[in-house]
Amino acid sequence: MDLSNIKIIDIPKITDVRGNLSVIENDVVPFEIKRVYYLYDVPSGTHRGGHAHKQLQQLLIAISGSFNVVLKDQNGAKKIITLNKPNRGLLIPNMTWRELEDFSSGAVCLVVASEVYEKADYIRDFSKFSLKV
Ligand code: TYD
Repeated sequence: MDLSNIKIIDIPKITDVRGNLSVIENDVVPFEIKRVYYLYDVPSGTHRGGHAHKQLQQLLIAISGSFNVVLKDQNGAKKIITLNKPNRGLLIPNMTWRELEDFSSGAVCLVVASEVYEKADYIRDFSKFSLKV
């Protein structure tokens, strides 16, 4: 999958004097939502991710705080995206290598996923992912 397929998605925000409310329904993402999970209490300096998925598509959102997402495609292209807004999501297509790093203190990464957890969908060996190695 080419890195041009990565998208930033604006998540609808409902604002009033009591604060903001953002909602993700199926029309916000280009897949049927099958799973939601979140990363939190990530120790400073920790890297997460470090894998690609054969089929899974995901939307990542910095619900709180910030972190960087390093994305790589199979042809060696690389992009770094900072997520730091609860109403902005990063859509990661399948066959895209991702690493999550530089988590701020208290950061929470919400992940909306197109598939249930399936161990066999992971590619964890970069040399098996990259066509350049
Ligand atoms: P892992 O994929 O290594 O997390 P990250 O994407 O941050 O690198 O997952 C950590 C552990 O949690 C691993 O043992 C698999 C397990 N896990 C589940 O059981 N269900 C899930 O939905 C996810 C995402 C992970």
